Amino acid sequence: MDDTLNTVKSILKKYKQEHLISFISQLTENQKSNLLNQILNIDFDELLGLYDAFNNSEPNPTEEIEPLKYVIKDSLPSNKIKQYYNIGIKAIKSGKVGVITLAGGQGSRLGFKGPKGTFCLDTEPKISLFEILCNYIKTYSNKYKINIPWYIMTSTSNYFDTINFFEQNDFFNYNRNNIHFFTQANMPIIDINGKLVLSEIYKVHFASNGNGNVFKALKKANLIFDMELKKLQWLFVGGIDNVLLNPLDPVFIGYTISCKVSASSKTLFKEDPTDISWIFAKKHKKPSIVECENFTEQISLLTDKNGNFLYRETNMLAHLFSINAIKKLSDINLPYHRAFRKNAFINEEGMKQVPDNPNIYKFEQFVFDAFSHFNNIALLRVNKGEEFAPIKDFNGPYNPEVATQKYEELILKKRSNIY
Ligand code: UTP
Repeated sequence: MDDTLNTVKSILKKYKQEHLISFISQLTENQKSNLLNQILNIDFDELLGLYDAFNNSEPNPTEEIEPLKYVIKDSLPSNKIKQYYNIGIKAIKSGKVGVITLAGGQGSRLGFKGPKGTFCLDTEPKISLFEILCNYIKTYSNKYKINIPWYIMTSTSNYFDTINFFEQNDFFNYNRNNIHFFTQANMPIIDINGKLVLSEIYKVHFASNGNGNVFKALKKANLIFDMELKKLQWLFVGGIDNVLLNPLDPVFIGYTISCKVSASSKTLFKEDPTDISWIFAKKHKKPSIVECENFTEQISLLTDKNGNFLYRETNMLAHLFSINAIKKLSDINLPYHRAFRKNAFINEEGMKQVPDNPNIYKFEQFVFDAFSHFNNIALLRVNKGEEFAPIKDFNGPYNPEVATQKYEELILKKRSNIY
């Protein structure tokens, strides 16, 4: 133990993180060895390198930005919709489509204890976000008498709570053999002074490293192999918190297949021309979602010859990837983004402190960075009112009350139409 402690001390000295073992004299032998082990497994070069890189980063130049083609679903003639629908249904019916749900993360803005998917809408009876998604999948599975595999990514901290929730709810009467849980990786969080923080006096504070870790996490859990065994050709990748998200939309699937691409995304139109972040565009000739600090309102007003805006498509976390795309992405290290979030920490006196405001940085990989690894992707703009009602927090526009209202209005009342 003394040798390990000395090694840890020298690592922490090198990276100026000695505070992580401030309370070591108060720990049991077990706690001490867990903490030292945790520290030995941290890649300080990577983490502090990211911290420095973000602190010194310059605004992205816009010169290399070009428009990315998209199709507006509401403008498609009915025969096209029918054609895409039939292609999509054929793929679903022949068991070629699976669903991946991103249910990791911290849900820190919502501040809900437990996995976000277990959050219930205040309907009669109450319904959880997991059950809502499961209902969409079950609808197709029952109608076509097929098994639709459902891969659910959790964080390491909510993995068992998620499985317990499914067990308590009898897997929502879906065949449990179709449901596969897997965990994503973690990354230590860091404060504004570049110091790692403790979540307990015996534990370094880690958080999930973003939904973009999904490809590597699937590979690590051997699930890409499982997808290949099941002869899946398309995987829908979506979040857990949008109550209007149909993971098996035949039109979207048929549209993607018809475009002969390996990846596609649904998009939403950005109403506000001054909101110019996270726009779909080509960057350095590759499909991307760009967050250019110097992207101007003027650019967001540019249109093509038909009057369609060039730079107003935004992400709603609803993507389709071919199995080959998933395989390719599982070998690629996606870049990290930095988010400023509110997280409890152990203060200098060894007491847990819960901040009122964001206090730490976490580094996250985003699924959409996968797009730049393809020459082209297909974009389908869908109707925001019909397909987007996520739950992000209690006070903003994406709150549980609005989501519940939309869910009741669009799904409960018109279930057969939506499916
Ligand atoms: P958000 O970016 O809204 O993050 O995730 P979040 O963790 O739910 O909430 P905040 O930002 O802490 O308040 C969009 C989707 O990506 C998943 C979430 O579960 C949600 O479905 N996600 C997010 C992951 O699976 N892993 C992550 O590390 C982050």
